[in-house]
Amino acid sequence: MSINWKCTFLLLTALLWTELAKAQNTTVLPENNSTTAAPTTPEPRIIVKDSDLCKKCNCLFDVEPKELDCSGKNLTDWLTTDEWNILQKGDVTFETLNFKNNSLKTIPVLPMYPVKYLYLSDNQIDNITIGAFQYLNVLHTLDLSHNKITAKVLVPDVFRGQYDPKAYLPLNNLKELNLGYNDLHSLDADLFEHAPALETLILCQNSFQVIDKLSETAISGLFHMKTLDLSYMELEELPQSFLNGPRELETLILSGNEFDELPETLKLAKNLRQLVLDDNLFEEFNGEEIFPLLPNLRYLSISYMPELKRIGKNAFSDLQNLTTLIASSNPKLSYIDEEAFSKNTTNPLILSYPPMHELYLHNNNLTILPRELFERWDNIQMLDLRFNPWVCDCSNKWLVESIIVQVNATTPNLVTNVECNSPADLKSVPIIDYEPKSSCYKGKNEGTSGSSLVLIGLLVGILISIPIAIGGFALYRRGYFNWLRRGNSRNDNRNMYDRANFSDDFHI
Ligand SMILES: *[C@@H]1O[C@H](CO)[C@@H](O)[C@H](O)[C@H]1NC(C)=O
Ligand SMILES: *[C@@H]1O[C@H](CO)[C@@H](O)[C@H](O)[C@H]1NC(C)=O
Ligand SMILES: *[C@@H]1O[C@H](CO)[C@@H](O)[C@H](O)[C@H]1NC(C)=O
Ligand SMILES: *[C@@H]1O[C@H](CO)[C@@H](O)[C@H](O)[C@H]1NC(C)=O
Ligand SMILES: *[C@@H]1O[C@H](CO)[C@@H](O)[C@H](O)[C@H]1NC(C)=O
Repeated sequence: MSINWKCTFLLLTALLWTELAKAQNTTVLPENNSTTAAPTTPEPRIIVKDSDLCKKCNCLFDVEPKELDCSGKNLTDWLTTDEWNILQKGDVTFETLNFKNNSLKTIPVLPMYPVKYLYLSDNQIDNITIGAFQYLNVLHTLDLSHNKITAKVLVPDVFRGQYDPKAYLPLNNLKELNLGYNDLHSLDADLFEHAPALETLILCQNSFQVIDKLSETAISGLFHMKTLDLSYMELEELPQSFLNGPRELETLILSGNEFDELPETLKLAKNLRQLVLDDNLFEEFNGEEIFPLLPNLRYLSISYMPELKRIGKNAFSDLQNLTTLIASSNPKLSYIDEEAFSKNTTNPLILSYPPMHELYLHNNNLTILPRELFERWDNIQMLDLRFNPWVCDCSNKWLVESIIVQVNATTPNLVTNVECNSPADLKSVPIIDYEPKSSCYKGKNEGTSGSSLVLIGLLVGILISIPIAIGGFALYRRGYFNWLRRGNSRNDNRNMYDRANFSDDFHI
């Protein structure tokens, strides 16, 4: 968990957010470099698998997309002219060129090649030649993360395409650009003028501190952007109209910043489906700080928040399509209002709730799970309640009776660490093994009729027993009263909690 959650994408894929994984076209590199016979072509072509290039780098023919893996070779120089020649005239086209984890310092103008995925992360790149990618006509994904790129180097013409009689053509196929972990503090306002089709922009781990006017212009001009990662950029706020341009935005990652208020611009993101706010400084989602109307939001993560204490009334009421909420590892989170999810409808008798399927509440400071939080708990397929200091008293008895049984039936591995923390004599007892005291059943759900029945029984018993006792044991009257007093006081102790519960009923 701790390995990858810092930068973002990895976090989401790790959580098996399958839709995203699909959209991203993640490439998995196999460990081995076995080769299969290359397909024969009629023209005389260089047999790539027999070439020196495949001795220098790993030629992966049996993965899709085919990959030339030159990663981790301590390269300080790019491929030679001869090696590019093998690629260009070879019998195989690699869609992926992987130069991760080398010592490359600059990016020259790269020769013509139909590469789709170009990985240049973990190098020492601090210089990019103007028009470096102009001959890579079908380039889809460019990973420049973990380098030393500064705003001075990253000028718009870096991304310009080939010169056409009238103007430079755009890199129309470039959809994904990773600039994470560099030395950027702002962006040129026109940075993406040659990359208008960008759908994914990753800027994580660059210390911006503020999104200035120029950066805002650059980013909000990306009208087709679907995924934006602004995590770990030391941001406290976003400009008000920031999300006005990218109306197709589906995934926004703001983890690891200094937000303590929800950015107002969020309400412009009407197509947002996934929002990650982990590791920020929110203290509560309550009052003014409730989520705006985001009708398409499916996935919300508010985890690892060191200061989050409270989730208040109507916090999520306007997220009427929310299916997954991850609110875990918030060490101070001890209160979730029973109306956090519900929303009034025009019919005052009917409340509406988000269609929650997965609810992760593990590793918080929760003592009570309000029953009224949802109407249809049985629709929640994944409910993680582990590692919270649950109170095992009557107020939580429904947790034992229905919720934990449901968890046991659907996800038995999530039962083990759902434990009582108080009262002291039940500390560390798994909730599934805890049996609520029988006195709990005289409470709200059994109705007052149950308790009255017991009272009437008691009264009748006493009324009958007194005359019999007096009549039958008149000679031992003194002894009889002593016995009754002792018996009653023992009863008082046992029913102390019960009485508190009983008076609760009267207030309703
Ligand atoms: C990488 O190459 C440089 C020289 O080009 C050499 O000094 C260094 O030791 C090499 N590092 C590794 C890990 O091989
Ligand atoms: C939830 O999503 C469905 C399907 O995309 C859509 O038809 C519906 O309008 C959304 N619900 C709300 C409250 O917007
Ligand atoms: C957890 O909640 C209890 C009250 O239920 C409180 O006393 C304690 O300080 C809280 N712990 C943290 C870390 O906030
Ligand atoms: C919802 O209705 C209840 C009872 O009718 C009312 O007390 C509450 O204020 C309403 N909430 C909102 C957000 O309108
Ligand atoms: C929990 O599930 C196991 C296996 O399905 C079952 O044997 C056990 O009785 C269940 N426990 C409770 C308390 O429902």
